[in-house]
Amino acid sequence: ELKDDTIIIVLGASGDLAKKKHIVIAELTELPIPACDVVIAPPSQTFPALFGLFKMGYLPKDVHIIGYARTKMDEVEYHKRLTSNLKNPDNDPEVSAKIEEFKKLSTYIAGSYEDTGAFKELNKHLEEVENKYTAKSRNRLFYLALPPSVFIPVAKHLRVNCYASGVNRIIIEKPFGKDSASSRELLGSLKEHWTEDETFRIDHYLGKEMVKNMLVLRFANVAFSSGWDKNSISNVQITFKEPFGTEGRGGYFDEFGIIRDVLQNHLLQVLSILTMERPVSFSAEDIRDEKVKVLRAIPPIEHGDTLLGQYVAANGKPGYLDDETVPYNSVCPTFAATTLWINNPRWEGVPFILKAGKALNEAKVEIRIQYKDVTQGIFKDISRNELVIRIQPTESIYLKLNTKTPGLSTRAVPIEMDLTYKRRFSDSKIPEAYESLILDALKGDHSNFVRDDELDVAWKIFTPILHWIEGKNGPAPKPLQYPYGSRGPKELDPFIHKYGYRRSDNLYKANEASD
Ligand code: BG6
Repeated sequence: ELKDDTIIIVLGASGDLAKKKHIVIAELTELPIPACDVVIAPPSQTFPALFGLFKMGYLPKDVHIIGYARTKMDEVEYHKRLTSNLKNPDNDPEVSAKIEEFKKLSTYIAGSYEDTGAFKELNKHLEEVENKYTAKSRNRLFYLALPPSVFIPVAKHLRVNCYASGVNRIIIEKPFGKDSASSRELLGSLKEHWTEDETFRIDHYLGKEMVKNMLVLRFANVAFSSGWDKNSISNVQITFKEPFGTEGRGGYFDEFGIIRDVLQNHLLQVLSILTMERPVSFSAEDIRDEKVKVLRAIPPIEHGDTLLGQYVAANGKPGYLDDETVPYNSVCPTFAATTLWINNPRWEGVPFILKAGKALNEAKVEIRIQYKDVTQGIFKDISRNELVIRIQPTESIYLKLNTKTPGLSTRAVPIEMDLTYKRRFSDSKIPEAYESLILDALKGDHSNFVRDDELDVAWKIFTPILHWIEGKNGPAPKPLQYPYGSRGPKELDPFIHKYGYRRSDNLYKANEASD
């Protein structure tokens, strides 16, 4: 339930509040951060999401939003930066009026991230706002849009100096460490100050409509749930493709690589919801218990199940190593395909191929579930069924089936049963992931946030392969090259084929792109 009398405090709210969704946070906080501490977090998402919720009337009554960061600026400047990123393309007067209202409830205060006095000042400011606007209970939601080097001191200062008498919550974002050990250390330090119940770890993929839909799709449809196992399914691919490279953010990226950036969090989250058992209820802990259970059945990834790539210059676009912020001899993967196995009775032997890459031929995130061949005998060369859940862009679910060619022939042809959201739900607005997640945090619903043990088991699966890639136990593997704008390394097709994926020619390709 939404608590009135809530203040939202965005820490790291200065700087270019910004044009691009995922920008290097160092730019935002103007901190002298060493490269390994620079994080891509999307604080620029925070304000548009808060505004989106405000516009739709979803924020608590009398809400106030306080920005806090190091940069000194007056309110006029702050509001200018704040609103530069709020969209009103058609100059809709209603939206303009909302933006003005939003400005009125947004204030800013500058201060350091390490200094007790500064946090006492922040608290004073919060109390002033509370005394003026929010009479009864005092509830505070802290959003840390900060690099991990200051996570701990800020979390501590907030707990000591800015903890209110009502409900207090804290939102944090990746990176949650770089491997099992560093993640545990970070988690442990945060836990000294904030309880698990107060903590909301964002993985923004959990806020995406199609990811949230998976629980309903799976557990509300016998048609799907009865064949959701190794008996019917041959292989599964979860694919993330971006058509742009690191573009000047390479310095950050090089410390992390595509596996930490996308696979270990976003794609693994999708995998866990796709494969978990039916939760006892839709409560946060029941759902997360099942996610942890299935993740625990996944052994650490093997080298042999992994293919790494790095993009090189092509079509007038620079290669990864041409990025000046990247070390000239970097072997950091910008593409990875890796196969996970789930050792439980439902999924034993089914390969789950996670693949993600930058600088590819298109923007797409999808789950492709390929069913087994039909029993041989009456058909020859018939296509396999495939269920595709496209997370973005243009959300859709389509099922590839075989049907008789209409008319006097009895030939079977592959077709698609197509649920494209834009067409079927033409009147619905799909919320941004951050809108949905911030609203959940305001309501205290943890279902779509990452629990501590979930994070720990996620790192267990990936830590050995990450250490191998970094050359911790021997020479670092060299990634395969692929041209900017291509589908990835040419070795990808045989790699996927090895795990049983069968590409079939589809006559009616309404939805199918090159992949
Ligand atoms: C972020 C990664 O977590 O997710 C980025 O750090 C990536 O590198 C982004 O671009 C993708 O998110 P979305 O919502 O654009 O698919």
